[in-house]
Amino acid sequence: MRASILSAAALAATLASGAPAGKRDFSPDNTYFPLANGFPNPSSDAILQIQKDGHGTLPNGPLPATLSQEGIINLQLIALNELFEVAFFTELVHNLTNKYEGYDLGYGQEYILDALSAVVAQEQMHLLNANKALEEFKVDPIQPCKYNFPVTDFQSAIALAGTFTDLVLGTLQDVNELFARNQDFDLVRAVSSVIGNEAEQEGLFRLVQKKRPSAQPFLTGSAREFAFTAIQSFMLPNSCPNIDTIPLKTFKPLTVESKDIKRETQNLKFSISKKDAEIYEVEKLRLVLINGQNKPIVESFQNVQMLDDKVVFEAAFPWEEFVMDGLTIAAVAEWAKETDEFAGVEDVAAKTIFGPGIIELS
Ligand SMILES: *[C@@H]1O[C@H](CO)[C@@H](O)[C@H](O)[C@H]1NC(C)=O
Repeated sequence: MRASILSAAALAATLASGAPAGKRDFSPDNTYFPLANGFPNPSSDAILQIQKDGHGTLPNGPLPATLSQEGIINLQLIALNELFEVAFFTELVHNLTNKYEGYDLGYGQEYILDALSAVVAQEQMHLLNANKALEEFKVDPIQPCKYNFPVTDFQSAIALAGTFTDLVLGTLQDVNELFARNQDFDLVRAVSSVIGNEAEQEGLFRLVQKKRPSAQPFLTGSAREFAFTAIQSFMLPNSCPNIDTIPLKTFKPLTVESKDIKRETQNLKFSISKKDAEIYEVEKLRLVLINGQNKPIVESFQNVQMLDDKVVFEAAFPWEEFVMDGLTIAAVAEWAKETDEFAGVEDVAAKTIFGPGIIELS
């Protein structure tokens, strides 16, 4: 039974003693690219191997005749994200292959390595597909950055992968909506197929964490700016050669202060930096929660505390009413009229100042 093998593997990760850890030998100086196969610019021979390792080929049909401005931004964001994912999963496979301390799964090693090696090749193909389309529409392909991942063992790596993949799954909904709204119909199928691929990966990450594979009936939606902001926290400042060609907003940080959040209605604690907060009137700010395909939930700040360097506040988390399992995106947005609602996730993003705060309930 796979499930029991994987659970055993997950447990063993903390028990088996592997090679000494601590040295970042895969990414000295936080440099990940080019990979041994030349990626992100592999030769045509290397691409043939990537296709075999990824268990399928790049789409071989023609690109649409036109691509909207929003469509270009979609592909740029996808490329930026896929580069980061390739860096992460390639290093994870490296750590597992060398059985570093915290990365020796014992019995489950072979299955996990095979699964993640396919993920590496599949993410490489997602990048190649996006950057090739950009090039054909005479837009500079997105170049890789330097990265730093806050993980030192298999469990924390998979938990992080589960979180960023959830955010990607929400963001690709936005990408598809924007393609459709801007008449880029012919790209919707390919992106939908990638949503399925990323969701299959998410099922593995959840299983390994002993979560049920399918999180929610309708996965939480996101907007491009939330993903754009979140993935930059894994990139070294000023290390992305052409991130500035992507015209998306980067939000100021919102910290979820509450830990070990339970599946119940409660107040959650958040914080924002005092320096960033100074220019806004607290009365005009609202904490917005995005979960599933529901309308954004708007909550007022409570118990606002001004500390030396940060502003701490609470806001209601109405779990009982909305059954907010899976991913919840929190954002602090500007709120003009008491009666208005946010029209949807994109409307929240348009008015967001601080975010995203990521809340994950199993
Ligand atoms: C791989 O291991 C190194 C050394 O422990 C660590 O710094 C790095 O974050 C790990 N990367 C992943 C993706 O697990």
